[in-house]
Amino acid sequence: MSNLKNKKAIITGGGRGLGKATALAFAKEGINVAITGRNETVLKETVAEIKSLGVTAIYSVFDVGDYKAVKSSIKTIIDTLGGVDILVNNAGIAAIGSFVEMPVEQWTQTIQTNVMGMYYVTKEVLPYLLEKNEGDIFNVASTAGLNGNPNVSAYSASKFAVIGMSESLMKEVRKNNIRVITLTPSTIETDMTIELGIASEGSEENVLQPEDFAELIVAGLKLPRRAMLKSAALWSTNP
Ligand SMILES: NC(=O)c1ccc[n+]([C@@H]2O[C@H](COP(=O)([O-])OP(=O)(O)OC[C@H]3O[C@@H](n4cnc5c(N)ncnc54)[C@H](OP(=O)(O)O)[C@@H]3O)[C@@H](O)[C@H]2O)c1
Repeated sequence: MSNLKNKKAIITGGGRGLGKATALAFAKEGINVAITGRNETVLKETVAEIKSLGVTAIYSVFDVGDYKAVKSSIKTIIDTLGGVDILVNNAGIAAIGSFVEMPVEQWTQTIQTNVMGMYYVTKEVLPYLLEKNEGDIFNVASTAGLNGNPNVSAYSASKFAVIGMSESLMKEVRKNNIRVITLTPSTIETDMTIELGIASEGSEENVLQPEDFAELIVAGLKLPRRAMLKSAALWSTNP
């Protein structure tokens, strides 16, 4: 098993939900983490929780859909951490609405955040991994990126795009010892799914929890470097 202690990770959308669970799981492995998001109060609280596990933790406030902000913030993060080994492209938004009724702005923002945001962050982190000839990038897609469904056209389109981008990049940089992993989880109990009305609070008995997702990422990281989790679909045992 590879040793993860003192590795350096960037997790977008790390203040809450799946990103936060991943950050805490990384800290338990001794990985130093930078979490990003738009809500400074939440990021500060999460950084304090991560630090209490004995690792270095920092946060950075920026919108992943704003390339100028991404470019300067990623540089500052990597300078502060002293490098980067792992990127978790997790920040994302979802909206439910019919094709006709969803405002153009909301459709556009979904693509801007989920697709362009992931592209911008990866574009700024990748040169550091290429230089070292080693790294891991986890791209969070969704089951919505595998099948379309009514009233989720923007979200589904964004996650189909994420899968295409992620697989293309994987084939481009595998030879550089950079593992690009595409994740397609189904419903996990977070603010996102509670707000959309597809999960309810306190349903840990039968709904996937953020810690389950985090465990999958850590397991992927622990594979020997010759092995790569190309993609993974996390499903619940309760259909
Ligand atoms: N929960 C599920 O069932 C599920 C299933 C499949 C895939 N996913 C995917 O998993 C990822 C995380 O989802 P979640 O369930 O943890 O959702 P969540 O609880 O709503 O968290 C979303 C995270 O993304 C950040 N974020 C959103 N827009 C951003 C922007 N423009 N710039 C920077 N950060 C932004 C948020 O931070 P701020 O609020 O601080 O900006 C927050 O940390 C998403 O990509 C989602 O599509 C979730």
